[in-house]
Amino acid sequence: MALSYRVQGFILLLTASLLAVGEANTIVVGGSEGWRFGFNYTDWALQNSPFYINDTLVFKYVPPSDTSFAPSVYLLPDLWSYIKCDFRRAKLLANATQGSGEGFEIVLKQWRPYYFASSGHNGFHCSAGLMKFFAVPLPRGN
Ligand SMILES: *[C@@H]1O[C@H](CO)[C@@H](O)[C@H](O)[C@H]1NC(C)=O
Ligand SMILES: *[C@@H]1O[C@H](CO)[C@@H](O)[C@H](O)[C@H]1NC(C)=O
Ligand SMILES: *[C@@H]1O[C@H](CO)[C@@H](O)[C@H](O)[C@H]1NC(C)=O
Repeated sequence: MALSYRVQGFILLLTASLLAVGEANTIVVGGSEGWRFGFNYTDWALQNSPFYINDTLVFKYVPPSDTSFAPSVYLLPDLWSYIKCDFRRAKLLANATQGSGEGFEIVLKQWRPYYFASSGHNGFHCSAGLMKFFAVPLPRGN
């Protein structure tokens, strides 16, 4: 069982890297779940890795009527602030309303870790709601 999962994982990775040659991809964060409280984005990122430089991530969310519960997209400065869900030096990428419609798009332009999180509900989205993940886009091998 364990072995077959490993083999499947390897085949997935292999397929992903073969598909990666060529065009950059557009990936909706969370797939059909979008960007919401309680969905495991760390797990999603693992399943959807690797990401490549110039891939586009799309965050889709609808603000609830109570704006203090609204999702947002922040870029956290480092691993420590990511672990702690510390938004003090974070950069707001998309506010409560910018995830509607086609969603908010960001191109992963650089070879560096991107730490994403929602600060909603005073950080509770990040600390308890699993609304955080990081991506390190790889250079494309041709
Ligand atoms: C989320 O997914 C990660 C990676 O699969 C896992 O390690 C972690 O335990 C999960 N968290 C929760 C709260 O389920
Ligand atoms: C990413 O896109 C920019 C602008 O289109 C381009 O100059 C750059 O070479 C691309 N980088 C990679 C690694 O493909
Ligand atoms: C979000 O940002 C957009 C664009 O800057 C702005 O028009 C809108 O009023 C902002 N919404 C909130 C809830 O701050």
